[in-house]
Amino acid sequence: MKVRSTHRFPGPAWDELEGVEVAPADTPGPDIDVLVVLNEPVDFELYPSLRLIANYSVGYDRIDVAAAGARGVAVTNTPGVLDAATADLAMALMLAARRGVVTGDRLVRAGGWAGLRDGREVSGATLGIVGAGRIGSAVARRAAGFDMRVLPVRRSDGDLEAVLREADIVTLHVPLNAETRGLLSRERLALLKDGATLVNTARGAVVDEDALVAELVAGRITAGLDVFAHEPRVPTELLDLPNVVLTPHIGSDTVETRAAMTRCVVDNVLAFARGEPLPNPVG
Ligand code: GLV
Repeated sequence: MKVRSTHRFPGPAWDELEGVEVAPADTPGPDIDVLVVLNEPVDFELYPSLRLIANYSVGYDRIDVAAAGARGVAVTNTPGVLDAATADLAMALMLAARRGVVTGDRLVRAGGWAGLRDGREVSGATLGIVGAGRIGSAVARRAAGFDMRVLPVRRSDGDLEAVLREADIVTLHVPLNAETRGLLSRERLALLKDGATLVNTARGAVVDEDALVAELVAGRITAGLDVFAHEPRVPTELLDLPNVVLTPHIGSDTVETRAAMTRCVVDNVLAFARGEPLPNPVG
């Protein structure tokens, strides 16, 4: 069995995959059976003997799962192991955005002290959670410790707009797919209260990014953003704004979680090699 990976992934489990070749996804691989990717698109013409795409992330929005299925190629992902780390980052972003953690840090480093007067409460705030799946539920558990009132929006519910009107903080935890692309449209962003905070650790394209930039430039809302529509490009208008905290897609980026994701990928590849049921199939 020939395995190729687009990266060498961290953690001890990686060494259980013997003889893995590391190469970019767009390198032809006529004899590759298994491709490990970081949510990169796969050109199936380059991989005629491919049987498994093992994705090192829970989101697989850049992989054409239907086309894979039509060719008999299975796809797996890494659910569950990154819920806590991603929920922690969502809390960090809401705290940072509402309490001036980053602007305060910059102020102190520049020799300043007084001047930040626009912090907003996190404790006791009303939190809209868009996408009440594994990660959204992990955020809800954390929010309980902050005495927050949680308003969950499940994908089937029609209450997104009511929640956007009522919440002090809105945090996004839906996968990116045809239903959720642009879910937070210009019109829906306009429903957010003045001074509300939007947190996005899901996917940038769930939000109309131009409309979000306009709201942030106007200073009407605050935001904590870990994901962007065209990563690694971040809209330049955001770079000097005090009302947005920016991180480089690090929701799962802890040593512990990254090692657990590698364990998960390796378990899927080894199950495939043994002809056993895949632990985490998608599609
Ligand atoms: C990260 O963005 C993931 O989907 O795991």
